[in-house]
Amino acid sequence: MTIALREQFPFYAARAACHYLDNAATSQIHSQALAAMVGQESHRANVHRSPYRLAEAATQAYGDARAKVARFLNAASCAEVVFTSGATASLNLVAYSFGETLKAGDEVVLSAAEHHSNFVPWLRLKERAGICLRILPVLPNGRIDTARLQDLVTERCRLIAITHCSNVTGAVTDVAAVVAAARAVGAKVLLDGAQQVQHGPVDVAALGADFYAFSSHKCFGPTGVGVLWGKKAMLALLPPFLSGGGMVGSVSLETATFAAPPARFEAGTPPVGQAIGLGAAVDWMMTLPWAEIHRYESMLLARLLAGLAVFPAVRLIGPADLHARLPIVSFEVAGIHPHDVCQVLGEREVALRGGHHCAQPLLAALGSEGATRASLALYNDQADVDAFLNGLEHALKVLS
Ligand code: ALA
Repeated sequence: MTIALREQFPFYAARAACHYLDNAATSQIHSQALAAMVGQESHRANVHRSPYRLAEAATQAYGDARAKVARFLNAASCAEVVFTSGATASLNLVAYSFGETLKAGDEVVLSAAEHHSNFVPWLRLKERAGICLRILPVLPNGRIDTARLQDLVTERCRLIAITHCSNVTGAVTDVAAVVAAARAVGAKVLLDGAQQVQHGPVDVAALGADFYAFSSHKCFGPTGVGVLWGKKAMLALLPPFLSGGGMVGSVSLETATFAAPPARFEAGTPPVGQAIGLGAAVDWMMTLPWAEIHRYESMLLARLLAGLAVFPAVRLIGPADLHARLPIVSFEVAGIHPHDVCQVLGEREVALRGGHHCAQPLLAALGSEGATRASLALYNDQADVDAFLNGLEHALKVLS
């Protein structure tokens, strides 16, 4: 990498020795995002409510953050960007509000690779509304079997809700195939972009989906804020999710009317400081040389995969090739619990996640009860990968 990134992350000033490889759980925050958030929170006012100067400045900064996110996503307008508390809230919003437009017997297609946040809301809707769920299976390498779209997406399908990239396998979904299958029957597409956004700006216009969900804390911004992007015409059709201040047209003792999107979906005081921090994070991301970063991340990923392949006791949970995958690598070690692997590596300052990764149906489909995961971001380096591989060798000796 020709640009020095670590010094831009306050985390590394305090923890230079840490090999932070849990980026799929949360990335570290960029200094610009932190500064923007602290700046806002240290002299704040509420937004969209009061006419004094500080409140108007807060409303302006919040609106500017929305415009930055719209640019990052190549959205058609700011009105397509809804601030939520995170990807989970964004996905629940669609499941609830789009779900209100569905009737018993309508079909929603998911995949077996979904994070629980794009699975459980649909299970609950099935209980509530009697919709049918159809599940795209995964191949043995963890990739979603999009060849099955043909027989699983029927005329009754109203929505395909699917991950853009798995938080377990790192496999990137063939979105073009999903969108084509949905369009053939007039269905809509919701993409869970939680893992994807950390690896570069997303072009929602090119993807062709109807909804896109992601979290700030996974793309170098603060925690507590996320985004639901939706096509303007789609958002306009949806009823509100949460109700309260800021999302109404007028309220009487008998009834209420609702504001146009995005306000319709932002009841209550929004996460103003966090949204402004996210705006700064995506602004910074848009200045980066992504082709170079992708080559760099692929080089690190190749080194990590090659190192893992040396251990006979290790089974990779996900594709072994570099094609259409992100640097998120999960694996099992025969006879050793993932938490023990994480513990031993943690003692060497290698930060990993272990367990079912909020994707129990996926692990079950791949015959796994739990996996250890190393996930890389643009500030990682070869020393991080080597510390992980050396630590794993040590863990295998200690735990076997
Ligand atoms: N969804 C996050 C992960 O995969 C928390 O770790």
